[in-house]
Amino acid sequence: MRDFKLGRWAMFGFVLAAPVLGPGCGNNDDDKQMPEDPDRERIEKGLTVSPVPLNLDGKDRNLVGLGSYLVNVQSACAGCHTAPPYVEGGDPYQGQPERINTARFLAGGVFFGPGLVSPNITPDASGNPGGASFEEFERYMRTGREDNGDILQVMPWPSYKDMSDREVRAIYEYLRAIPRIESTRP
Ligand code: HEC
Repeated sequence: MRDFKLGRWAMFGFVLAAPVLGPGCGNNDDDKQMPEDPDRERIEKGLTVSPVPLNLDGKDRNLVGLGSYLVNVQSACAGCHTAPPYVEGGDPYQGQPERINTARFLAGGVFFGPGLVSPNITPDASGNPGGASFEEFERYMRTGREDNGDILQVMPWPSYKDMSDREVRAIYEYLRAIPRIESTRP
């Protein structure tokens, strides 16, 4: 009887000690995880705030999440590339609860002056945002140059140009994950 009691206490001690003893002792799932991604908070926030459903097939979830954070929280891409940005009754500038125009999300068509209309940056038929390869996209973001050498006049590329390589890649990856929307004729 006495031995049995001691056995129970020994077991209790083991359970308490197991988390402290670390890897190899007990079956702690945390020990198997990869090192924490330093962008974890932005990634998860980005996945939460994307106003449109995301197609993650064959894509890097972390990059898509970070890209969503940069597009939707930090860089105001949708305000200029969605026409109109908010649905009727959903304009925060009018004191209304925000409701983004998901039906036209990032499909372009905002007029900024003669000949200056924001382009559609949703995926084309082959999945490339606005039909741009990554190399072209990175050139727009870092140099503001069109194919013909013209300089983008409205797009705030001078403030985007110093994003890290991972951030530019993440925005591109997010734009590949959003729904494709056909352009409407201006
Ligand atoms: C202040 C408004 C504004 C903001 C903010 C903005 N854009 Fe633009 N963007 C435009 C306009 C207008 C054009 C058309 C060319 C120009 O700027 O003269 C353009 C052009 C582009 C192009 C070039 C497409 C092409 O085929 O020439 C890409 C790509 C692009 N924007 C992506 C983005 C992304 C991604 C963001 C957010 C990180 C963003 N834009 C934020 C207004 C904006």
